[in-house]
Amino acid sequence: MDSMLDDRFVLDDSSAVGLSEQFGTPLYVVSEAAFRARLRRYREAFSAAYPATRLSYASKANSILTILRIAYEEGYDVDVASEGELRAALLAGIPASHCHLHGNAKAERELDFALEQAIGEILVDNFRELDRLVSRDLGATKLMLRLAPGVDPKTHRAISTGQADTKFGFNIADGSGERAVRICLDNKLPLHGFHCHVGSQLLDPEAQRAGGAQIASFAIEMEQKHGFVADLLNVGGGLGVRYLADYQPMQAAEYCQLIVEAVLTHLGDRRPTLAQEPGRSMIAEAGVTLYRVEVIKEVPTIQGRKRYVVVDGGLSDNPRSAMYEAKYEVRAIASGETSLATVSGKHCETDTLFADIHLPTNLAEGDLLQVLCTGAYNASMASNYNRFPRPACVLVGLDGHAKVIQKRETWDEVFSSQVPPG
Ligand SMILES: Cc1ncc(COP(=O)(O)O)c(C=O)c1O
Repeated sequence: MDSMLDDRFVLDDSSAVGLSEQFGTPLYVVSEAAFRARLRRYREAFSAAYPATRLSYASKANSILTILRIAYEEGYDVDVASEGELRAALLAGIPASHCHLHGNAKAERELDFALEQAIGEILVDNFRELDRLVSRDLGATKLMLRLAPGVDPKTHRAISTGQADTKFGFNIADGSGERAVRICLDNKLPLHGFHCHVGSQLLDPEAQRAGGAQIASFAIEMEQKHGFVADLLNVGGGLGVRYLADYQPMQAAEYCQLIVEAVLTHLGDRRPTLAQEPGRSMIAEAGVTLYRVEVIKEVPTIQGRKRYVVVDGGLSDNPRSAMYEAKYEVRAIASGETSLATVSGKHCETDTLFADIHLPTNLAEGDLLQVLCTGAYNASMASNYNRFPRPACVLVGLDGHAKVIQKRETWDEVFSSQVPPG
């Protein structure tokens, strides 16, 4: 396993300084080369492992329009989890036929909009949704059933989605999955196959293997009991990334091989199309965030003193530390002897971004910090908490030039939904 390989995108000091001066901070920066390389590597790995594959990019990871467009150019369909994400894909010029709609509580109008656009596929989550679909003209849209395979992915509880008590999908163990298949068959709905997504940031692929095996054996059971032959099996996304240098997610080639084997073991000589929809592993390591140090403060503790390095962003541009106790690697532009520091944001919360990390002792107010591996679930989860404008994002193109792909929000935009009192 080539686990020591570390090709995470990182800006050299002078580029970091240049970009921060040109575009301001906090600033998301994405490398087009690093993103395309990941998309290609995964696609090649999956096709090398199995002849009939389909990949979708999970747009929730980062749905900036240019990012979606690049994924599409690299041969990916787009997995959308809401009407808003579908609209983003359409605005990026991606045909609806190449989009797949997820969501565990799709509203009538979301389904209507998706069907009006002739979306490629709807991944049905529950009986209520099936009821809604039975009475509609589905046109060319295909259906897939999202299943809860009942495996524990051993990741943070907030990104575990495949365990037996999950809110997502039809439970296999209690017979809901089979009941859903029967409803589809009785109503002649265009069911094509099954889907599961066991969780995200998986560093141990065991759950993914178990999830793949579960949906494959469920497919065989449905064929034997009801004569339904699945032509598509989708095992979701989930491959982890190197938030810290010593995290060792599987390489794409090994991971795809493992998934294909897990599914095929149960399929006999059947060869349906196999699909995956990775998000994080495509874009996380291709992005960094630049912050400027606003304040350095030392406070007394029982053990001695604690150094706070407070940056000009925080919870609103990176909620992952608060939500998942996520850890990151932080690089300072300054160098020299280091000592422990806690990097905190400037929100009215204890928004510790990175606790107890080594930073140069001579780090000063006004210096830059670069946080690695922030391409996924940062820009897409950003908020206006404390009325902070959302940061800009620049793409470092294949020619080395940086261009803005998401503008920094203006004050007018921050307040555009507000109705003046009186
Ligand atoms: C249904 C589904 N598919 C794909 C993904 C993407 O997962 P990841 O970004 O871990 O690859 C998610 C993430 O939550 C998901 O819920």
